[in-house]
Amino acid sequence: MDETVTAIGTPNIAFIKYWGKRNEKLNLPSNSSVSMTVDEQLNTKTSILFTDRLSADRVYINGEMQDVHGAEMMERLVSLEILRRLAGEKRKALVVSENSFPAGSGLASSASGLATLTYTAAKALGLKLTPREMSMIARRGSGSACRSLFGGIVKWRKGVREDGSDSYAEQVVRPNYWPELIDIVVVLTRARKKVSSHVGHGLTTKTSVLYKSRLAYVENAVARLIAAVKERNFETLGELIMRDSNNMHATMLDTWPPLLYLNDSSKEVIYRVHELNESEGKIVAAYTFDAGANAQVITLKRNVGKVTRLLGGIESVNDVIKLKMGNGPRVLGESDSLIDERTLRPRSG
Ligand code: PMV
Repeated sequence: MDETVTAIGTPNIAFIKYWGKRNEKLNLPSNSSVSMTVDEQLNTKTSILFTDRLSADRVYINGEMQDVHGAEMMERLVSLEILRRLAGEKRKALVVSENSFPAGSGLASSASGLATLTYTAAKALGLKLTPREMSMIARRGSGSACRSLFGGIVKWRKGVREDGSDSYAEQVVRPNYWPELIDIVVVLTRARKKVSSHVGHGLTTKTSVLYKSRLAYVENAVARLIAAVKERNFETLGELIMRDSNNMHATMLDTWPPLLYLNDSSKEVIYRVHELNESEGKIVAAYTFDAGANAQVITLKRNVGKVTRLLGGIESVNDVIKLKMGNGPRVLGESDSLIDERTLRPRSG
């Protein structure tokens, strides 16, 4: 019997960034990273149906049919292929996926999309995999996706083995360990970035002179950041978050040709956050930027008002979304299905 499975997953925001790979094919990172999985206000919903009525996989993202034979899509779909092999499944898949936020704008749509794809496909195939096992499979589609298989604060161990068998994500603390922690997404632009993170990783690894010094500092920063989370020490956490974002963007600028993801509005956010922290006499907010211009400002619940007022004063702020920690992916009910099983197309409305 063909049966559609639908699930929902969310992005994560890295506090210590993953940038650069020790193995491009297996998506093995050069450093460990730590992130916060966010709540379902930003989400990806994915429905998957394995069926013998299709002779090739068919994938729709936000209503648009994708070229499944294109190089990028083939790399993205590697986790589907791995899971199908594990399950001994021969049938092709219909995948319908919807993001509640713009793709390619530095809002971690690939992490959310590929974590949810892996999770939904594993469920649709009836595979009983642990989140750690799923994280290793999601990693192959997009490195940062592996962290979205867990809720709360999550570490991705870089691992040392050539085959990647020790490079997986694990939960550091559950969301309710520090419920006051808030991620304010500051949408400054909805434009697609010029160089995808996929390409950027390799360029920085190969050409940046500063990159070596990043690798020399970053594992220790991971350990210190995890300790700060466990102590619920926002000041230390905030400083580590801002310094790591700045450090990664320094190696990006040092890449040849340079990768410039931040724009003038991003810089305005940086200045304003430092001004706020100075006027408060301590760190109450911390900015962080992925491979894009949009900012995320990490703060505590009691300071959200102050931070929002501060951001409101910046002209180019399009939207501000306040996110709590999320619980990671979960299966939805039949009524949430995005698939019309009769026509094998996305369900309308
Ligand atoms: O997973 P990728 O290949 O899209 O790389 C993401 C890299 C950053 O978002 C910049 C940092 C991170 O750790 O999420």
